[in-house]
Amino acid sequence: MNYLNESRASLLAELAKLRAAYENIVAQGLSLDLSRGKPSAEQLDLSMPMLSLPAEDVIRARDGFDCRNYGVLLGLPEMREFWSSLTGIPAKNIMVGGNSSLNMMYDAIARAMLFGVADSVRPWGKEETVKFLCPVPGYDRHFAICETMGIEMIPVPMTPNGPDMDEVERLVADPAVRGIWCVPKYANPTGITYSDEVVRRLASMPTAAPDFRIFWDNAYMIHDIADEGDVLLDIFAEAKRAGNENRVFFFASTSKVTFPGAGVAMMAMSDADLALAAPIAGAQTIGPDKLNQLRHLAFLPDAAAVKNLMKKHAVFLGRRFEIVLDALREDLAQTGVASWTEPKGGYFISLDVLEGTAKRVYELCTEAGVVLTKVGATFPYGKDPENKNLRLAPSYPSEADLAKAVRVLTVAVRVAALEKLTA
Ligand SMILES: Cc1ncc(COP(=O)(O)O)c(C=O)c1O
Repeated sequence: MNYLNESRASLLAELAKLRAAYENIVAQGLSLDLSRGKPSAEQLDLSMPMLSLPAEDVIRARDGFDCRNYGVLLGLPEMREFWSSLTGIPAKNIMVGGNSSLNMMYDAIARAMLFGVADSVRPWGKEETVKFLCPVPGYDRHFAICETMGIEMIPVPMTPNGPDMDEVERLVADPAVRGIWCVPKYANPTGITYSDEVVRRLASMPTAAPDFRIFWDNAYMIHDIADEGDVLLDIFAEAKRAGNENRVFFFASTSKVTFPGAGVAMMAMSDADLALAAPIAGAQTIGPDKLNQLRHLAFLPDAAAVKNLMKKHAVFLGRRFEIVLDALREDLAQTGVASWTEPKGGYFISLDVLEGTAKRVYELCTEAGVVLTKVGATFPYGKDPENKNLRLAPSYPSEADLAKAVRVLTVAVRVAALEKLTA
């Protein structure tokens, strides 16, 4: 039934039926969670062999350096080469960090605020206003960094090909706009991948701020679920080609390859920016955890080993994505009150419900024992102006729990829409 074409009487009848179904669900006293974008225990088990490597095999770097000791600020050369082989970025432009790319993003902004970046006239923090473009829906933790630093956030709508570039190009004519957040492949939460045209426009557009930076958070760059994953253009090379060599700050980690919270993160930047960042990073730490780098290199010696591991992750993720997508298609496709993305990889599905009803869906799910990501979390300042976006994270629950949770969700989406349409 398409709710948008039905008479009020038949909508009320449908609402009564679904309310009864909803009451039945509430009576079951469920406790389920669709909010956590983290790997399942089965996925974590895939990397357990990394933790039982013979200790003597993972203490010496390629050049014989004893990694149990301090040093090697930018990361082991072999770890920088590992990231180079996955990203296509020259190893000399890569800095290896600790366990978290988000940490490196925070540090990159903190450095920019305190010291500026290459091309800055003065530190960003000395500017009257610093603004960042935030494609929406987007990743709440990016927005939290900006909020913590007092950076003003400007939402930019996402399209199926990436951020609305006409809008981006218009906004970067403001010299206060210093950066943009991008999750360019399997974006959190829409799951879309930026088109070649979007990447080229981002790399080449004129910006009023000479020190404008793209925060290219490629968290899901190798996280294909479909056999034929999306292909993303190399923005680092495109920016260089366009004469904007300093424009890109590129981030990635093995968080959802091996262990979130115990992986290896990286940041890539131009020669000029690395020359500025390294001494500051050197004041912050004597060096990263190289034993973890060695463990990762022993477990994942090359790009083929990484690909093989990601294919195993994809089996678990693929089944869970299908459970959610099947339920959405079966229960919501006809109703005309919901639309969603069907990503080929990553960790999220973005669901748009009838405008003005997302908070009610959240409420109904909570009452029925299903936790969703908070409405608004995918927008700067926690405010979804249309109150319609929900981020679904299928990866963590068991398949049985997921199947139950998503049916509760589809009932809630329909009840909330019918309540609004019959109000
Ligand atoms: C887009 C995005 N970036 C970064 C992270 C966190 O990465 P890390 O574990 O390397 O800090 C996540 C985790 O969910 C993410 O979705």
